[in-house]
Amino acid sequence: MAAMTTDTTGGAARDDVSRPGGPADSPFVRACRRRSVPHTPVWFMRQAGRSLPEYREIRANVAMLESCRRPELVTEITLQPVRRHNVDAAILFSDIVVPVAAAGVDLDIVPGTGPVVAEPVRTAADVQRIRPIGRDDVPYVDEAVRMLVKELGDTPLIGFAGAPFTLASYLVEGGPSRTHAKTKALMYGDPELWHALAGRLAEMTLAFLRVQIEAGVSAVQLFDSWAGALSEADYRRFVLPHSTAVLAGLADAGVPRIHFGVGTAELLGAMGEAGADVVGVDWRTPLNVATGRIGPDKAVQGNLDPCLLLAPWPVIEAEVRRILDEGRAAPGHVFNLGHGVLPETDPEVLTRVVALVHELSTRPAEGA
Ligand code: CP3
Repeated sequence: MAAMTTDTTGGAARDDVSRPGGPADSPFVRACRRRSVPHTPVWFMRQAGRSLPEYREIRANVAMLESCRRPELVTEITLQPVRRHNVDAAILFSDIVVPVAAAGVDLDIVPGTGPVVAEPVRTAADVQRIRPIGRDDVPYVDEAVRMLVKELGDTPLIGFAGAPFTLASYLVEGGPSRTHAKTKALMYGDPELWHALAGRLAEMTLAFLRVQIEAGVSAVQLFDSWAGALSEADYRRFVLPHSTAVLAGLADAGVPRIHFGVGTAELLGAMGEAGADVVGVDWRTPLNVATGRIGPDKAVQGNLDPCLLLAPWPVIEAEVRRILDEGRAAPGHVFNLGHGVLPETDPEVLTRVVALVHELSTRPAEGA
């Protein structure tokens, strides 16, 4: 009953707020909140996916977007890495373009390529056609999160979404891009249209994350994977207000907010300012340097180079030790990769990394 009185949002996750050992008291959520932890929590971006034979098997005859719309399949795929690796958190199996498709944009996820948009966004009318979304537009996400929260018990589930810049890049380019040239051309050439697009994507992303939080996720991660393409000044002018609308818009939601991008060494401070509790750091910036840029009031997440997992074990072990040492400079550390697991990664190496992080970071119980 006590738990009910602390429930301010009606979300399923809030029921666990005051339950010791529940997901909101897990090492992962505690580290995000800069509280003491029994060990450094660890999970991997893209932990559910092609590195796992059981994933390749179950996905063999189902297209990527279709698989994101089947709650039983989403639940099974999300649980696969949790069963196998003993990670401290699950991440919902989905994709950043799922809400974009739900908002009416004609797109597909092409194997080996990524999201491809049929009619790239060029005009104000194109922006207008991106409809606002709510729970009823993504019932399969709501259902999958509810099933997962039950299945996962005390293991926290991370919800996620793409940030306005990264989503806009796919919409404007029509697909993946190395330079983001069309996106930048629109940003610099027609700032009004840019802000209309990014503003609309921010509303969509906020609504999408609220659906996941209401359904019971214990944390959310906002992926601005390609923000590192921008200078800090342009990031602050064109992107920060929109990412802030999303993250600061969730300040009352009661779950930690992680903000991640790749190649963002120059943006780490600004990305924290957007309203994150945790800033994700890629492998280019040591975590002690990163925390100096982000400040003492935020935790960090990262940052083993995913390519390093292809190296011999002694090399991996040394890097894990270095990252744990550097992470001690931060007021909270969630161990992760600097970007997603590569499909060619040996899953047994991932399991071994989890065990090593736990072993090296186990602290004596408080007061013992
Ligand atoms: O385990 C997890 O991390 C959850 C699953 C997840 C997927 N996509 C599944 C997926 C997450 C968190 C994402 C987010 C996502 N999608 C991002 C942000 C994270 C990042 O990597 O920076 C981005 C940029 C996308 C867009 C996207 N979708 C790309 C670049 C690709 C890869 C294309 C390819 O085939 O190499 C996808 C497809 C995708 N999303 C796959 C998975 C497992 C591969 C498709 C498949 O398995 O058939």
